[in-house]
Amino acid sequence: MEALRVRGGAPLVGEVRLSGAKNSVLKLMAAALLAEGATTIRNVPDILDVEIMAELLRRLGCTVDHDAAGGVVRIDVPAQPSHRADYDLVRRMRASICVLGPLVARMGAADVAVPGGDNIGSRGLDMHVDGLRRMGAEVTSEHGCLLAQAPDGLVGARVWLDFPSVGATETVLMGAVLARGETVIDNAAREPEIVDICTMLVSMGARIEGIGTSTIVVHGVDTLSPTDHETVPDRIVAGTWAVAAAITGGDVTVRGAHGEHLSIALEKLVVAGATVETLPDGFRVAMSEQPRAVDIVTLPYPGFPTDLQPQFIALNAVAAGAALVTENLFEARFVFVQELARLGADVRTDGHHALVRGRERLSGAPVEATDIRAGAGLVLAGLVADGCTTVYGVGHIDRGYAGFVPALRSLGADVERIDVP
Ligand code: EPU
Repeated sequence: MEALRVRGGAPLVGEVRLSGAKNSVLKLMAAALLAEGATTIRNVPDILDVEIMAELLRRLGCTVDHDAAGGVVRIDVPAQPSHRADYDLVRRMRASICVLGPLVARMGAADVAVPGGDNIGSRGLDMHVDGLRRMGAEVTSEHGCLLAQAPDGLVGARVWLDFPSVGATETVLMGAVLARGETVIDNAAREPEIVDICTMLVSMGARIEGIGTSTIVVHGVDTLSPTDHETVPDRIVAGTWAVAAAITGGDVTVRGAHGEHLSIALEKLVVAGATVETLPDGFRVAMSEQPRAVDIVTLPYPGFPTDLQPQFIALNAVAAGAALVTENLFEARFVFVQELARLGADVRTDGHHALVRGRERLSGAPVEATDIRAGAGLVLAGLVADGCTTVYGVGHIDRGYAGFVPALRSLGADVERIDVP
């Protein structure tokens, strides 16, 4: 087993370069299933989840070449891919569910193991299922699998999502591009990753209007063609570096970032006392004083991202004053707070609210990362804790942050990966 050993104290100074977004690339890889032939995806982050998705696509009959160093994945999709995604891969990565829409759209059937809950909550699939049913699929759940069948193809429909779910928007979208007729997705998610997949689908020949708005209109086409697509930069990794600069009193330039995808988070850092400078290819965040506490309310995009909530709780834990953090997406995301408390943070939670009272110092201790973003939050807290913090569960961090330790070290952090018994 491995862990990260972090010795706090050093301000992070220097430059980092982003790669593509985890939460986009996995869906782009699934979207490749919609067209026979070879699709190339670029700016692919070197993370474990990409390997798991590559393995899933191979099991479905695709040939997948992954040039991890070059950040390129080439997926050659056969005329008749298999339509079964087994539990052994789905359980390793919940995002595997994103093959459901493309498989039923292209093959008229999908048999995908249902991912269980995870450490950030139960995470339902009801809106995915409801959307496919509205498009004429028969969907049943048997022996831990979702079986979706539409032997005569999906049919365009009006799909109103109860909540602008990222995953459900993607499932319906990938079903709709090959459906007969028009599909309207109301209350659709508007995340930059949704715009990214729409852009890729359009380059494959899909007809989509309202991209980036809450009403997406899709005119189904008979076939799509393979494409060559560059993944949108990872706004959550960018935001994590921004908080890393602010919490350590450092000065970090993030290259290859789209600052406009992070407007609220960067604005919050300004309120906390940071200087944020927009650059032609990214942004710079510098902080020269103790941060001031900032209230956070997580919401679907363009609201404050839940995936930056733990990092901002870490910031508030060493800020002047108190902050109220409200989590509206994932009920169990505050589990991480108990680990932060081991470093001396003063955080009280009640339902989906957390009250964080800032302290001048945290104190290093062993802690356990329970999910990707909790892991990032704990490493950031470790960077400002006295002494040594050992972050266990480093596998979670590896799922979302490519080359995290070398990048931290290049900025001056005292961090190393260690083997633990
Ligand atoms: N939900 C339902 N029913 C559904 C779908 C969603 O109840 O059919 C609920 C979920 O349980 C959750 C809320 O709706 O409470 C939001 O879920 P959403 O579908 O928007 O999220 P997701 O697609 O499961 C993606 C990212 C998450 C990110 C969220 C929100 C991927 C692989 N995951 O999840 O990323 O937090 O959108 O932006 O794209 C992470 O990277 O650490 C991460 C958890």
